Amino acid sequence: MKTRLLVAAAMPAALVRAVNNGLARTPQMGWNNWNTFACDVSEKLLLETSKLLVDYGLKDLGYQYVVLDDCWSVGRGEDGYLIPDTTKFPHGMDGVADELHKQGFLFGMYSSAGEMTCARYTGSLDYETQDAESFASWGVDYLKYDNCYHMGRMGTPLISFNRYNEMAKALKKTGRSILYSLCSWGEDYVHTWGGSIANSWRISGDIYDSFSRPDDLCACNDPANPACVAPGTHCSVLAIINKVAPYIDRGLPGAWNDLDMLEVGLGGMTEEEYKAHFAMWAALKSPLLLGNDLRVMDATTLSIVNNPAIIAISQDPKGRAAMRISRNLTVPKDEFGVGETQVWSGSLTNGDQVVIFFNAADEDLDMSASLAELFVMHGPGGSADEVKQDWTVRDLWGSEGARMSKADAQAVLDAKSDAERSSVLKRANWYNATEKPYAKGLEDGDERLFGERVGTVKAGGRLEARVARHAAKVFRLQSAGGKAGASKGSSLRDEL
Ligand SMILES: *[C@@H]1O[C@H](CO)[C@@H](O)[C@H](O)[C@H]1NC(C)=O
Ligand SMILES: *[C@@H]1O[C@H](CO)[C@@H](O)[C@H](O)[C@H]1NC(C)=O
Repeated sequence: MKTRLLVAAAMPAALVRAVNNGLARTPQMGWNNWNTFACDVSEKLLLETSKLLVDYGLKDLGYQYVVLDDCWSVGRGEDGYLIPDTTKFPHGMDGVADELHKQGFLFGMYSSAGEMTCARYTGSLDYETQDAESFASWGVDYLKYDNCYHMGRMGTPLISFNRYNEMAKALKKTGRSILYSLCSWGEDYVHTWGGSIANSWRISGDIYDSFSRPDDLCACNDPANPACVAPGTHCSVLAIINKVAPYIDRGLPGAWNDLDMLEVGLGGMTEEEYKAHFAMWAALKSPLLLGNDLRVMDATTLSIVNNPAIIAISQDPKGRAAMRISRNLTVPKDEFGVGETQVWSGSLTNGDQVVIFFNAADEDLDMSASLAELFVMHGPGGSADEVKQDWTVRDLWGSEGARMSKADAQAVLDAKSDAERSSVLKRANWYNATEKPYAKGLEDGDERLFGERVGTVKAGGRLEARVARHAAKVFRLQSAGGKAGASKGSSLRDEL
C-alpha cells in the first residue's frame, strides 16, 4: 500500500515537468510518408493521402497528423530562411497546411538538428530561430527533428539536450502550438531528458519491415554488444521492444517514448506479425504514425489499423504504458537464433488491465501468467488487491466482432462514392472518435472499445492462452464486479 501511494504521489500533473505545451496528452496519431516513399514527396501525395484518411474513416479514429518527412526544400536563401521546393509543392508549405487544416488535419514537417538532414538536404543546426519562424508562419503543427550531421555535438546527455533545446526554445518563441518530436535514435540517454523539452523521442535506430530478423545495422539492439557504435537503421519490431523495455515507464501524458513509425501494410510481415506490432505500439504508448501507401491499402491492413479496441489502449486517458513482467528465452529459436516470449501488463483508466502475450518464438506456444504476476506493480508476491478478485477477459482482436471483417474492410476500400462508403461504415457501426472521444467511449462502456468476451480468471488464478508463432494475444481484463466494482486500490490510483 505504501509503495503504491509513493508511486502515485509522484504523478500529479502539476508536478510533472514535461514540455507542457498541452499537446500529445495521448500519443499522437497520423501518417508519415517516409517508410514507403522516402524522398519521393509532393503536395499531391500528401493531399491524396489525407483524402483517403478521411474516406476510410481513419481520421475519425484519431489519425489526425499528416507528416511530411525529409526532402522538401531546395536550400537556404541569402536571408537565412529555408526555401521549399515549389516543383514538389507548387502552393508552398503554407498552401499544403491550409488545405490540410480545411480538411480538419494537423500538418507535420521535418528537419534535422544538423548541418544537413539525413537525406542531405539543408538542416536546421544554428538556424533554429529562422526555421521555427518559417514553420510557424506556414501553419505547421508538428516538427519531427532528426539527428544527422550534428557536427559532433553529441556524446553526453547535456550536449545533445542543449542542441535539441535550441529548437524547443525557438518553437516556443513563435507562440504557435507545435508538437515537438525528437528523432535522436535513443542517443545520449534521451529517455532521461527528452520529456523536459519535447512531446516524444525516438528510442532506437530506424525501424525496418521485419518482425524479428537481427541485422548488424541495428547494432544497438543489444546494449552490451561492443559493436554498438551507432543506433543504426535496420531495427526489427522485436529489437525495438527489447530496447525500450527497461525505460518504458518514462512515457507520460505529453511526452512519449517513440518506437518509430508503423510498418503495417508494407509487406514484410505476416498479418499476425503486423497485428502484434500494432498492438505493442499501442500498449507501449508509442506515437501511432501509419507508414503505408493508403492508395494501395488492402483489407487486411485496414482491418488492423482501424481496430478501435486497440487504439483505445493507446489513447487511454491514464497515459501509462504497459510494462514487461516476464520474458522467456528458453523457447524454440529460428535460424538466426532468435526466439522468446514476453508478457506485458498495464493499468488503464477505469481499473481495467491490458495484458499482452507476445510470442516471438519459432513455434505456437501455450502461454500463461498468474494474476499475482500480472498485478505485480500493485504489490509484490500476490499482495495486490486485484489478485483477490475475479476478472472478465476480453480479446481485443477477437475472432470476429472486435475487428472489422475483411468483407467490410474491402467494401470500404472498394466503395465508388462517399455515400456508399459511409453506408458501409454505418452498417458496420464503426467507431468515430470525432463524435465520441475515446475517453468518453471508455467511460460509457462503449462495447466497440472492449473487444470480445472470451472467459474469466478467478481470484488467485491464471490467464492462459495458446499463442501462434510470431503473434500476440491482446486482452483487456475487467473486474468481474463491473466498472464500479474496481477495488479500493484501483479507485485510489484513479483519483490521483
Ligand atoms: C464522424 O463524426 C463526425 C462528427 O459527427 C462526422 O462529421 C464524420 O463524417 C463522421 N465520420 C464518419 C467516417 O462517419
Ligand atoms: C519457457 O517456455 C517454455 C516453452 O513454452 C516452457 O517449457 C518453459 O517452462 C518456460 N519457462 C518459464 C520459466 O516459464
